[in-house]
Amino acid sequence: MNFDEELRKRRDRANDIIERYLPGEDAVPGKLAEAMNYSIRIGGKRIRPILMMESYRMFGGHGTAVEPFMAAIEMIHTHSLVHDDLPAIDNDALRRGRKTTHAVYGEAIGILAGDALLNYAYETALQAFRHTEDPQRVVRALEILSSETGLYGMLGGQSVDVENDKNGVSALSKESLDYIYFHKTGALIEAPLMIGAALAGADKTETGCMKEIGSRIGLAFQIQDDILDVTGTTEELGKPVGSDTKNDKTTYVTLRGLDGARKTVKEQTDAAVRLLDSMLGEKEFLRELLIRMASRSK
Ligand code: IPE
Ligand code: IPE
Ligand code: MG
Ligand code: MG
Ligand code: MG
Repeated sequence: MNFDEELRKRRDRANDIIERYLPGEDAVPGKLAEAMNYSIRIGGKRIRPILMMESYRMFGGHGTAVEPFMAAIEMIHTHSLVHDDLPAIDNDALRRGRKTTHAVYGEAIGILAGDALLNYAYETALQAFRHTEDPQRVVRALEILSSETGLYGMLGGQSVDVENDKNGVSALSKESLDYIYFHKTGALIEAPLMIGAALAGADKTETGCMKEIGSRIGLAFQIQDDILDVTGTTEELGKPVGSDTKNDKTTYVTLRGLDGARKTVKEQTDAAVRLLDSMLGEKEFLRELLIRMASRSK
């Protein structure tokens, strides 16, 4: 398998699907639709929709019910980035190699574009009912999408991360940091793996295994993000390096050092891959993707 070529194909496919579900900009309120589309169209690695498609395939899914959910997860992820960059949160002016949404459209539209992306994600995901003969699977996927995104998922993690902001006097405990990472990042990696499985008809045990894989990979992904915030370059990342230092954050790097952080990335990735190896299904590409996510440089 030529991994890079296969990844490119999947990213192109994810981009085509996402594009099909974006709102039109002609009718009022075109400005808001434009701001929503701006942040999504710039790009990004599209890891979450690709994970969803691969999990769907692994459990034998072959219809189109997964497509609206692939677009929805990227909308929710992008909403999290648009809000994460706002002056009240991380206050960053660069994302995906371009000015952040609020830097282009102003803070008010930045806030509303994030809200609208979150809401539009559900308007989009609901379209899956038109693509399925098993509406119960879509209901289950919607339950996963909503719970992993909200109070007890990504948003919960972001809210505790805000307390981590600029509190340099006392470093956060590893326990609090893990809560933040498992939620702000882990939840949005778990969700696509679980949704792909649920839409393909996987049972509770199988979906639970995908959750654990996502949780470990999500932790590794965020720790790698911390590492790149220190060792990466703005050109390659497309976002400012040193954001965590600027905001005086406790991260895995400040707590464990670069080597300690790298060690945890490897341990968590290895454990996730071992669990994947114990499962059935076509997963050669997914396995390699999980490994590459840990060693990524952007
Ligand atoms: C960035 O996610 C936010 C984190 C959870 C670290 P990605 O690194 O997947 O960002 P894009 O989508 O490629 O821009
Ligand atoms: C972001 O964590 C997680 C979410 C946006 C939910 P970071 O604040 O570290 O992400 P980047 O570095 O800005 O992408
Ligand atoms: Mg943040
Ligand atoms: Mg940030
Ligand atoms: Mg970061």
